[in-house]
Amino acid sequence: MNDSPRASAEHSDDAAANPLRDARDRRLPLISGPGSMVMFGVTGDLARKKLLPAIYDLTHRGLLPPSFGLVGFGRRDWSHDDFAEYVRESVIADARTEFSEPVFEQLRGGLRFVQGAFDDRAAFEELTRVVSELDASRGTGGNHAFYLSIPPAAFPQVCEQLAGSGLNTPRDGSWRRVVIEKPFGHDLASARELNDVVEQVFNPEDVFRIDHYLGKETVQNILALRFSNQLFEPIWNANYVDHVQITMAEDIGIGSRAGYYDGIGTARDVIQNHLLQLLALTAMEEPVSFRAADLRAEKEKVLAAVELPQDLAAHTARGQYVGGWQGGQEVVSYLEEDGIPADSTTETFAAMRLDIATRRWAGVPFYLRAGKRLGRRVTEIAVVFKRAPFLPFRSTDTADLGQNAIVVRVQPDEGVTMRFGSKVPGTQMEVRDVSMDFAYGTNFTEESPEAYERLILDMMLGDPPLFPRQREVELSWQILDPITQFWAEHMPPAPYRPGTWGPDTAHEMIARDGRSWRRP
Ligand code: BG6
Repeated sequence: MNDSPRASAEHSDDAAANPLRDARDRRLPLISGPGSMVMFGVTGDLARKKLLPAIYDLTHRGLLPPSFGLVGFGRRDWSHDDFAEYVRESVIADARTEFSEPVFEQLRGGLRFVQGAFDDRAAFEELTRVVSELDASRGTGGNHAFYLSIPPAAFPQVCEQLAGSGLNTPRDGSWRRVVIEKPFGHDLASARELNDVVEQVFNPEDVFRIDHYLGKETVQNILALRFSNQLFEPIWNANYVDHVQITMAEDIGIGSRAGYYDGIGTARDVIQNHLLQLLALTAMEEPVSFRAADLRAEKEKVLAAVELPQDLAAHTARGQYVGGWQGGQEVVSYLEEDGIPADSTTETFAAMRLDIATRRWAGVPFYLRAGKRLGRRVTEIAVVFKRAPFLPFRSTDTADLGQNAIVVRVQPDEGVTMRFGSKVPGTQMEVRDVSMDFAYGTNFTEESPEAYERLILDMMLGDPPLFPRQREVELSWQILDPITQFWAEHMPPAPYRPGTWGPDTAHEMIARDGRSWRRP
């Protein structure tokens, strides 16, 4: 991220990581230096649909060096050419930028495949050889990142093999980094164990934890909105804000991800990471700079101040979709999805009220909700304001006036909406809600990059602000663990129909506080 000029030598911990950020001419893009990425789990969905296309898009945008190397590691009996064909197909199917043969040829020159299983010592020796060959033939300079797009259960073995073959150890001023994807464990204890495994092999500053929401332009824009303007920050507190609603709704079901999703559920899948990160960015104090240490410190302070409701039964909700109709199509229930046990109690919808025990937010509930098979795909943060203390109108004139709101539209219709009251044209002083919209699509000509483009580039640059550190991960589990424990013991998920906004219990939960969910 771009640093503020206030950042000074005292923040030299991560300043050293990327001096380019300070020195650059802002008209010029940041381009990664020489290096390669070794990808474990290269045949998985994430790699195929997101990571490989993002690497192509970065190459297309000229943000990766021509010498960039990409090594796939997997069990398939593939030659380098077979791997290149696989990458080409994934790029054609899912890249954001158009397919160009010369660009692909540039990328192709650095593609390698190493066949092997995670317990195969010889395969890691071959990997070491391939990585050295890239250094010699492409000039990757000994700089190599290891992307673990694999289930966390496989981390110990892969980390051990990387250490055993010395791949984790940089030489002569080069770097070695590891990239891990959520879920970072399934509770606090397992997150700590997982971290111990990774940090035994890599230095903490070389571990890049991906929460892809932080790579989204609209999420970074929360910081721009709050801290570059005079307009919002004075009212961004308990004096003016009534409550905040953070929604991440998806219209899809779990698709082919039964193996990952069952037993995990919505709270661990997206609230522990994406929604709590959104909460942290919305609620945190202004950081001294946007350097990693300063940004993370403010996010951690606010996560540490989160308080759970006393009565979890009344202030949380949990649901599971049943079969029905969505978007004109008949869809099966969660329990009928392929690979889901018929008695599964995994939730596909979660909602909760959280409070933040700080002067800024005392008495302002943050309502979080997320789920699959909901009304439509939308992620937004709605800051809903208190009503004006006095209305010099006849009450009938303001009958249709709601509460003012600022809504950060994270996706899909990226932008910001302000809702306020306005006079209805005519002879009467009738006031009704109107909205004022900022839309990325109409204000900027350039299309927003995909989150993974930004995160892969930042990782290659060694620029850490968009990557949560272990403390944030642990604080998030500390918030969630009592809720998931309570749910496991006392609260099976309530059913909800596809295309709705979750189970009745979610509506009852917020109604208890005299409020209602927004209909995005
Ligand atoms: C992932 C979750 O982190 O985010 C998925 O594991 C979810 O369950 C996905 O579908 C949503 O991402 P996005 O960027 O489409 O909102």
